[in-house]
Amino acid sequence: MDMFRRTFAEINLDHLAHNIQVLQKAFPKTPFLCPMVKANAYGHGDVQLALFLERLGIQHLGVCLIEEGLLLRSSGVKAEILVFRGFDREGAEKILEHGMTPVVTTWDQLSYLEEVAKSPVSIHLKFDTGMNRLGFHADEAQKLYDRLWQNKKIRLKALVTHLFNGEDAVDANGTSAEQLKKFHQISQVFKPFNIFSHALNSAGILSRMQMEQDGKPAQHPLFLQEWGLRPGLMIYGYNPLTNRSQAQLKHVMTLKSTVNTFRHLKAGETVSYGGTWKAPKESIIAVVPIGYADGYHRVLSNLGVALFAGHRVPVVGNVCMDYLMLDVTAAVQGRDLKALQDEEVILFGHDAHGNFLSPEELAQKAKSITWEMLTSVGERVPRVYVGQEAETLQGGGVK
Ligand SMILES: Cc1ncc(COP(=O)(O)O)c(C=O)c1O
Repeated sequence: MDMFRRTFAEINLDHLAHNIQVLQKAFPKTPFLCPMVKANAYGHGDVQLALFLERLGIQHLGVCLIEEGLLLRSSGVKAEILVFRGFDREGAEKILEHGMTPVVTTWDQLSYLEEVAKSPVSIHLKFDTGMNRLGFHADEAQKLYDRLWQNKKIRLKALVTHLFNGEDAVDANGTSAEQLKKFHQISQVFKPFNIFSHALNSAGILSRMQMEQDGKPAQHPLFLQEWGLRPGLMIYGYNPLTNRSQAQLKHVMTLKSTVNTFRHLKAGETVSYGGTWKAPKESIIAVVPIGYADGYHRVLSNLGVALFAGHRVPVVGNVCMDYLMLDVTAAVQGRDLKALQDEEVILFGHDAHGNFLSPEELAQKAKSITWEMLTSVGERVPRVYVGQEAETLQGGGVK
C-alpha cells in the first residue's frame, strides 16, 4: 500500500479473533451470533473484517444499509447478511437479488417482499419494545402471526428487538429488563414457528456474562431464553459497562501518525487558526498530519491528548483539517529531535512503551461516545491489518 503520509489505523486481527473467542466461549449455546459490521465495521474496514470473521466461522453479519451489504457481497462475503435499516420496494428487490436477509419493520415491507419474491424469502421481524425508533408494536404480534403463518412467500426465521439502555441490563427492575420481558411475551405468540429471538447488544451481552459469573439469579429477564447476540462495540475491544472486571477484551484499533515537523516557539507565540493557544514559555510543538478531515474531532482543540515518545502530550491550538499540534516540550526535553522524527504519535490505542490512550477518554472530552470516535476515523486514513492472523490471511483478501 502506498502511504506517503504515515497516518493510519492499525487493526489487530488477533485481538478481534480473541474477542470473538471470548463470546463463543461464554455463549456456546447461543442460537445466533451476529457481529455488527455496519458503518465500515465501526471504522475498522468492513470488507476485510467481514472476510476475516467468516474465516473464524461467523455465519451471520449485521449491516445497516443495503449499500453496505452489497459491498460485502461484491467483495466475496458468503455469510448471511442481515440488513437492519428497512427498505422500499426497490430495496426489497436488491436485498433478495443478492441473497441478503431483510429485518422487516413495517407492514409495507412485508407487502414489498411478497410482491417481489420469486421463491420463499427468509426474514427477521423487528419489534419496538421501547427504543421508539423502528419495528412493530407488541399489540401487532397476533396479526403478524396470522399474516406469516403458512405464508407461501415469507419464512419467519427470528424475532428482533433492540435495547435502548443496555447498560442497565443487570438491574432486574431496569428498562432493559422491562424490554426483555415484553419481548419474551411477544415471542410466546410466535412459539409455533419454533424460531429464536435476538435482543442483546454489547451491554446486554456483557451484563449477562457478568451475571453468569456472579451466579445468575433465577428468573432474571437476561435468562428468560437463550437470546441471540448482536455484538458491536465489544468485538472491537470496548466494554460499555461501568463495571468491567469480567470480560478480558482486547482493543482492535490503534490510530497512529508521526511528526511532520517540530516548531520552536518563543513565549507568547500562538499556534494554529485563531491563535487560541499561547506558549507560556519557550515551547516545542509537534505538527502531526491528521485533522478533522480524518475524523479527529475539532472539538478536541486544546482538549485532546496523544501519546508521544512514552508521554501523554496535549493537543494545543485548533485542530485543522489536515493537522493537529501537540505541545511536546516536556516529552522531548534533552533529546535529539532528529532521532524523534520517526517516533509514532498515538491518537488512541497502544504505544510501543506500554501506554494506552483510550478513545473513551477522548470521547468524554469531546462530549461524545466511543462508538462515534471509532466510526469517525475517516475514509482517507488507510487501515493496516496486523497480527499473526493477518499474515495467514494475506492471500484471502485481508491486506
Ligand atoms: C440493531 C442493532 N443491534 C446491535 C447493535 C450493536 O450495539 P453495540 O455496539 O452497543 O454492541 C447496534 C448498534 O448500534 C444496533 O443498531
